[in-house]
Amino acid sequence: MEPISNRPGIQKIKSADKRKKVCEALESLRFTENDVKQMMKVFEEQIDYANSLNEEDRKKSDLFWECTYVSDLVKGNENGRYLGLDLGSTNFRVVLVDLKDGEAKTTTKYYNLTDDQLSGPAELVFDHIAASMEVFITEEKIQSQKPIGVGFTFSFPTVQKSLKKSILVTWTKRFKCTNGPGLDPCILLEEAIERKGGLSVPVNVMARISDTTGTLMAGSYYDKKCAIGLILGSGSNACYVEHLKNFKKLDPKEAKSDKILVNCEWGAFGDNGCLDFCRNEFEREVDQYSNFPGSYTFEKSFGGFYLGEMFRVVLVKLTKAGVLFDGKGSDELMTRWLWKSRQVTTVEKDNPGSSENTMSVLKQMKLDTIATEEDVLLVQEACYLMSQRAAYIVATALAVLLNHINEPEVSIGIDGSLYEHHPRFHHHMTTLLQKLVPSTKFRLFLVKDGSGQGAALVAAVESS
Ligand code: BGC
Repeated sequence: MEPISNRPGIQKIKSADKRKKVCEALESLRFTENDVKQMMKVFEEQIDYANSLNEEDRKKSDLFWECTYVSDLVKGNENGRYLGLDLGSTNFRVVLVDLKDGEAKTTTKYYNLTDDQLSGPAELVFDHIAASMEVFITEEKIQSQKPIGVGFTFSFPTVQKSLKKSILVTWTKRFKCTNGPGLDPCILLEEAIERKGGLSVPVNVMARISDTTGTLMAGSYYDKKCAIGLILGSGSNACYVEHLKNFKKLDPKEAKSDKILVNCEWGAFGDNGCLDFCRNEFEREVDQYSNFPGSYTFEKSFGGFYLGEMFRVVLVKLTKAGVLFDGKGSDELMTRWLWKSRQVTTVEKDNPGSSENTMSVLKQMKLDTIATEEDVLLVQEACYLMSQRAAYIVATALAVLLNHINEPEVSIGIDGSLYEHHPRFHHHMTTLLQKLVPSTKFRLFLVKDGSGQGAALVAAVESS
């Protein structure tokens, strides 16, 4: 990353003394070449540990590196109707995929969860899922005598025991239910359906997958070269196609081919301190006041659920240093977790020289009347630098996966609101990846709602 002082908006600050203070305050947003190299090395080491057959070695890594037990990508000859359920954010989704010789017709509906459901007993969440399934079945007039295959995208860290069986380790993101860890999400779902007295059509819950696996499956439906599914939403994670010989934890006799779909579950990367060399004060502060301090280090450095708060923390630092908002700010600036990633993506939508979007955010945060022209520029630069760092961190980890895949051409399917709405994330990721994996022709592409659609596709692939 170029020196902070090179940024055009920083160069426009008139006072040399102020410029110096700004550069000092923002210096830790730089993700240097050295950080990139070191992170790739550490990531590779952690993969080795996570992959080890020796339990003591495995404990040295916070990566889950789980076999998904999904036997294949989408082949293109699947048939039938399947349901996908997608739980991972407050936006629970039900997806119907109707396949005719591999051609999919997809219908998606959203059923938001309330704050009470997110923080009460887990059963409330699963009752909501069962109730939403029934609403969907009724609204879509689905009829069937035979059980409809269901794939369940449940996007929280779990230990995967088989295609269907998995055990939740901890809630993440906005979820803080009073129970759940230690339980199997598919069983919780089946129990909730039973509590309802069943659904109006029979269903067969076939698989629990992560949203990354769903995105990889949906990605492979659109692009046969897709070998990575990436989530850049509230949280983050990736699933990729690994050579079986590189995945030591699975007995090759259990494998269905020489390739295996691995759910990296990379959010907790760094919880053991291996990323301390590059963590900055902003990441530490966000973590300290988050739902689960001391956990999900990697995810918290760029996940959409955290970026808004990080932006606020950066601006508070500049304010307290006396170089922004006349050192004063507003109550909204000082309120933790009030800023969302929406504020980040909105500011980033301003092109150089324009400030309309930034002003709308400053207005929401009661900062518009005190912001000077230099303040506006500084807010934009802080947002740019923080976003660039975030995208570079993701690209660094992706480069390691691309090296593992080791194919001349690889497509990366991406789902999640951060990637979808951030106007520069794609560009920053591409720029760094081109440097890190020059011999791979890669393509990053949006797979909108891929996580839920992919769950239905898993049910299809496993049924065919
Ligand atoms: C979860 C992952 C999930 C990711 C993206 C993380 O918080 O632990 O399982 O894939 O978010 O939604």
